[in-house]
Amino acid sequence: MKSLIVCVSTSHGNTRRVAERMAEVLGAEVVEPESVDPEALRQYDLVGFGSGIYYMAVDDRLRKLIRRLPDVADIRAFTFFTSGARGIPLLNYHKPVRKRLEAKGFEVIGSFSCRGFDTVGPFGFIGGINRGRPNDHDLDRAAAFAAHMRKRVGGSAAAS
Ligand SMILES: Cc1cc2nc3c(=O)[nH]c(=O)nc-3n(C[C@H](O)[C@H](O)[C@H](O)COP(=O)(O)O)c2cc1C
Repeated sequence: MKSLIVCVSTSHGNTRRVAERMAEVLGAEVVEPESVDPEALRQYDLVGFGSGIYYMAVDDRLRKLIRRLPDVADIRAFTFFTSGARGIPLLNYHKPVRKRLEAKGFEVIGSFSCRGFDTVGPFGFIGGINRGRPNDHDLDRAAAFAAHMRKRVGGSAAAS
């Protein structure tokens, strides 16, 4: 099973840490959107798309990549996010990305999210919120999620 993880993590590397942990489980490479050759994506069985949440949205670099992708078939995908605030149904970051991916032909089979250390705006004055997040528990959850994704695609137990 061949997997790739695309990740935008501009603030504290929170989302990147989640991506790296998932990548260990999947035996995947973690890349930035600009490094993705859209046509070459067809060779993967599973692609993860992740971003920190910035001003209530995923990073535009991720959206731009998805726009550039060709129509695909038989590729599973998942999304993942880290954010300062707890996720609430009203602000569903997964749904719009899922819809864009599905419009390209991906089968989106899951989404993961957790809190991330956040020093934006006024939080910076108080030393930030969610210090230490993602923590070991978050990263273990990310690993378990990745293992579940791997199982859904039918991949054999890859690295760790
Ligand atoms: C410019 C900026 C805007 C942000 N806006 C939001 C937001 O609207 N909602 C939220 O929950 N967190 C927000 N955050 C917090 C980030 O989502 C959180 O710190 C995330 O873990 C950052 O991931 P990263 O370290 O991978 O970039 C914002 C952070 C930055 C730097």
